[in-house]
Amino acid sequence: MMGKHIILIGFMGTGKSTVGEMLAEKLECPWLDTDTEVERLAGKKIPRLFEEGGEAHFRRWEKKVLKQVLEQTPGVITTGGGIVLDPENVSWIRSSGWVVALDASEEELLRRLATDQSRPLLRGDARQRVRDLKRARQGVYDFADLFLDTTGSSPRETAAKILQQWKEMTGSSRV
Ligand code: S3P
Repeated sequence: MMGKHIILIGFMGTGKSTVGEMLAEKLECPWLDTDTEVERLAGKKIPRLFEEGGEAHFRRWEKKVLKQVLEQTPGVITTGGGIVLDPENVSWIRSSGWVVALDASEEELLRRLATDQSRPLLRGDARQRVRDLKRARQGVYDFADLFLDTTGSSPRETAAKILQQWKEMTGSSRV
């Protein structure tokens, strides 16, 4: 049984959900994703929530869901890229787990996200939106305990790196 959550944060397209799922499988622990939980509890897809009430409406759902998932049995929690824009969310995240920030070069993110349809904030010129948002959000993930650049790494490699650090920190007997 894990003592605390492993919480993955980072910009859209850095691989949080894919890596988080693999990590949870390795650790044989629960995995919860805030975007998935928002969609499940709201009964609507994220683009729909944005259409109905704008970004603020989505952020209210996201905050409510974050609070709920942090209260669950310790496991892996993956989050939406903008969750850290709310200072209260940041303080909850910091006090509830070991925080890993994933990143990737702008070029790599552009490659991964250029044709994305599921993220309302990238509508229009996705490349330009990635550039603008990445710039606007500079520094917001800096509170993490571990930083990993996923550029050129597979999700499996990234998950292995996280696992290694986690084992070193907690002692392998506990995982
Ligand atoms: C968002 C990131 C998305 C999702 C929503 C808003 C953001 O999650 O929460 O579209 O503001 O960065 P991913 O980071 O999983 O793409």
